[in-house]
Amino acid sequence: GNGNGNGNGNDNNPDGKKMRRSQHWFGGTSKDAFIHRSWMKNQGLPDDSFDGRPVIGICNTWSELTPCNAHFRQLAEKVKQGVLQAGGLPLEFPAMSLGETNMRPTAMLFRNLAAMEVEESIRAHPLDGVILLVGCDKTTPALLMGAASVDLPTLVLSGGPMLNGRYRGETIGSGTHVWKFSEAVRGGQMSQNEFMKAESCMSRSAGHCMTMGTASTMASMVEALGIALPENAAIPAVDSRRHALAVMAGRRIVEMVDADLRPSAILTRAAFENAIRANAAIGGSTNAVLHLLAIAGRVGVDLSLDDWDRLGREVPTILNLMPSGEFLMEDFYYAGGLPVVLRRLAEAGLLQRDALTVTGHTVWENNRDAECFNDAVIRPLDKPLLASGGIAVLRGNLAPLGAVIKPSAATPALLQHTGRAVVFEDIEHYKARVDDPALDIDADCIMVLKNCGPKGYPGMAEVGNMGLPAKLLAAGVTDMVRLSDARMSGTAYGSVILHVAPEAMAGGLLALVRDGDMIEVDVAGRRLELLVAEDEIARRRAAWVAPVAPKSGYAKLYFDHVLQADQGVDLDFLVGCRGDAVPRESH
Ligand code: FES
Ligand code: MG
Repeated sequence: GNGNGNGNGNDNNPDGKKMRRSQHWFGGTSKDAFIHRSWMKNQGLPDDSFDGRPVIGICNTWSELTPCNAHFRQLAEKVKQGVLQAGGLPLEFPAMSLGETNMRPTAMLFRNLAAMEVEESIRAHPLDGVILLVGCDKTTPALLMGAASVDLPTLVLSGGPMLNGRYRGETIGSGTHVWKFSEAVRGGQMSQNEFMKAESCMSRSAGHCMTMGTASTMASMVEALGIALPENAAIPAVDSRRHALAVMAGRRIVEMVDADLRPSAILTRAAFENAIRANAAIGGSTNAVLHLLAIAGRVGVDLSLDDWDRLGREVPTILNLMPSGEFLMEDFYYAGGLPVVLRRLAEAGLLQRDALTVTGHTVWENNRDAECFNDAVIRPLDKPLLASGGIAVLRGNLAPLGAVIKPSAATPALLQHTGRAVVFEDIEHYKARVDDPALDIDADCIMVLKNCGPKGYPGMAEVGNMGLPAKLLAAGVTDMVRLSDARMSGTAYGSVILHVAPEAMAGGLLALVRDGDMIEVDVAGRRLELLVAEDEIARRRAAWVAPVAPKSGYAKLYFDHVLQADQGVDLDFLVGCRGDAVPRESH
């Protein structure tokens, strides 16, 4: 552990056992202890609340502005029940909530800010362990990054997905069908009125996106990492078993504190390798690449883009969920959930069975008895949805530090493709230009979007899956190669190359691409090249002027310190674990 390097000079109880961290606040007879306890008692806490029992923080990202996490107050009550049953003291506290659908310019701009807030909130308070209540995409990595940098015993509890969407008898998925329907409207196959009616049919219960988007992916990643309980990923938000899981999480964190089981013992290299393979097996979001790199950075595991490419390549995608397949999270849970996927990976020799988890058991012990109830949803490994899943990492003059593509969501014929660039300088330029009937573009062109990376947007927005030009949609074109330094929603699909590093705004070659340039994409060869002569590139570079950077506020702090996509887009000074040392007294 990290030890409590506090200024109080006493780490031990009279019996010689290590003093609980919270007792540095709540123990003893000093004036300071009076202050810490007395004000807490205004909440109706009896004297024995402070007798040395484990104090469990419940870090809650509840917000009515984050609809995916709007049910978290009820969930927190269930966690508290479990903590109390196990003899702990639960104390709920808020963390900045990050909702994908309402936050501008993008929730990703604030992931590191929330992580910083969570880290400092945990360390500054009289806590012995924490439960992280997470749901909408960025809340999961943000809270885990912050908690990992403290390394107190930590258990992640996801809020669960929404029930399946239903529209006119058809199953529709969060996000995925927004992209589909919106292209159908622009291509003239769906009316505006039908489009509006689909809104309430898509989001019809509490919970986060029920496709295998980023939220479901990250809920699966924390389960595969072993930092969440088995079944965490797929139980629907409104299913009573989600509430039971919350009670069990509350009980378990108390035991974890007693056993001193910390993230540093769980988030090992083996755990990350398991998570990367699980991501390939479930057809998970490209956003997981960034988030796992960032989490690994917090715990000192040397993870790289090459690990993603290498480990994912040998894993078939067996989960048949949108956007790559046809089903949704509710179906995934009824089919057996992530335990089935982990068992199948282990039986194929694709899982490190000995990785320790929050249960105190290994990932294999947790999942070896998992039963599959629907092989159409979770395919056997010999009948996969896709023989080789995972994320391909491309390199070349256009992306010396790497770019990513999710082949399972792409059109096979476009994975080897040389095309003429049609360039959009930023997202506004794209929106103004894409439906212009005069735009010189055909299905073989490569749509290039600049200045949407970590520094560029700022915050690396989910705009990489640019909609196709209306005139091509009307002509029946369904996919084209798209290339950018942006991210894309985990619910999206298409032949979309993302996360180009270095990004345009940091002076990457992407900044110098012009209309008419030829670009070569070779996913099998892992290459991405701008076919323009060196002297011409040098001329363009000499004339390049960087776009204006943020001048003040959080955006400036972020801009000045953000790492590129290949390093997980964390802030440089937040990388690493700073431990749980008890800060000096406040009075
Ligand atoms: Fe919140 Fe998709 S918008 S999970
Ligand atoms: Mg998203």
